[in-house]
Amino acid sequence: VNELHPNAELSPDLYDQLKDYVQFTQEDAARLRTLLPVVRPHFAAIADHFYERVLTFPDAMAVFTEGSAQVERLKKTMVRWLETGLSGPHDHAYFRSRSKIGQVHVLIGLPQHYMFTAMNVMRVDLQKRVLDLAHDSTMTLGEARSTMDAIDRLLDIELAIMLHTYREDSEKRMRDKERLATIGQLAASIGHDLRNPLGVIESSLFIIRRRIGEDDKLSRHLGRISDQVAVCNRIVTDLLEMARNRPPRLKLERLRALTEQAQSSLTVPPGVEIVLDIPAELEFPADAGLMSQALMNLMSNAVLAITSLGDGCGTVTVSGRRIHEAGTPERVEIAVSDTGPGFEPRILNRVFEPLFSTRAKGTGLGLALVKSVAERHGGLVRAANAPDGGAVVRLTMPASLPAPDPTPSAH
Ligand code: HEM
Repeated sequence: VNELHPNAELSPDLYDQLKDYVQFTQEDAARLRTLLPVVRPHFAAIADHFYERVLTFPDAMAVFTEGSAQVERLKKTMVRWLETGLSGPHDHAYFRSRSKIGQVHVLIGLPQHYMFTAMNVMRVDLQKRVLDLAHDSTMTLGEARSTMDAIDRLLDIELAIMLHTYREDSEKRMRDKERLATIGQLAASIGHDLRNPLGVIESSLFIIRRRIGEDDKLSRHLGRISDQVAVCNRIVTDLLEMARNRPPRLKLERLRALTEQAQSSLTVPPGVEIVLDIPAELEFPADAGLMSQALMNLMSNAVLAITSLGDGCGTVTVSGRRIHEAGTPERVEIAVSDTGPGFEPRILNRVFEPLFSTRAKGTGLGLALVKSVAERHGGLVRAANAPDGGAVVRLTMPASLPAPDPTPSAH
């Protein structure tokens, strides 16, 4: 389970401290409440301007995984944010809901620095509206000054809450890094220790299977045991691969054969069909062991995604093709797609992070291993949702072997 925020509840004490520090008082809250009806008509324009600015930055854009419809939806969210920000009450429930907003931004992988700049765009826009009120004498200059101070204090608190979430996330990443290092050390020894007993279980199952003959009920149970042994084996292999991180031994391999190899070690339930759309002669440089492991992880995820749905029926398609765009080296694209529910759009940018899993039983290693394998091969990997639903993971791999290293010079 994604445990991005083990201490999701930020301490309410922190909120009280923040309010004390910036000296956000009852008078400030009252000023914002008075301001609300006057600036409300401008909220839509403020939200438009806010996203107009965001959209000029490509890596800010990258967090919008659902395109322009999402931006339109967010504009409405922003209007609500302004409404509740000015109306309050600025109590502990308010603080909790604001912390949740911070968590969403961390979850979607928005770089922290955008929070500063974005909050400032908001600050300047709101202050401009207040100054206008002073200019047309709706407010005295003194009132405008105090109202701008109240806005400043509120937005400082909002920013502090957002940044606090980022800090929690980076602390978690550091803990994860340590955890991964420890997993690395443990994996090799545990992996080896488990391989043997799993092997014994497998060979005994094979013998028992032959003996029990026609007993359907027993066969079913044996089938379940052997499926679970396969799951254990996969976890052990992922762990060992992650721990070793060895450079791939590249050889021209046929994608179709690698995929079939991966498929053969996969348990596919009856409702799921696997379709291979791969030209028989399609070759690329690959480490057969690593690459078929990566393909198996992808196919296994795809199968799990389908079986998580109501009737558990659907199709996993593995396709492969050469792509050659002018001016770039030839690549081989491998896509594994399924008819499951698709990735939750807002976590698309993070699904390859180690220990980031949204599945209750996920180890958070499967997709991380896929990424590591693709990158060790000089390729890259992207996750997306197909237009008609379902997840697609695309690997783009070099199509030919790297040129041999030039002979080192005599110096
Ligand atoms: C002052 C700064 C910001 C505020 C007050 C703000 C406010 C919000 C709110 C209220 C939500 C909804 C949270 C929820 O689902 O519960 C949200 C989500 C989101 N925000 Fe922001 N935001 C800010 C900055 C940004 C920036 C700079 C970007 C992009 C570069 C951004 C992109 C997003 C995205 C992609 C989501 C997820 C939307 C979804 O669920 O579809 N936000 N934001």
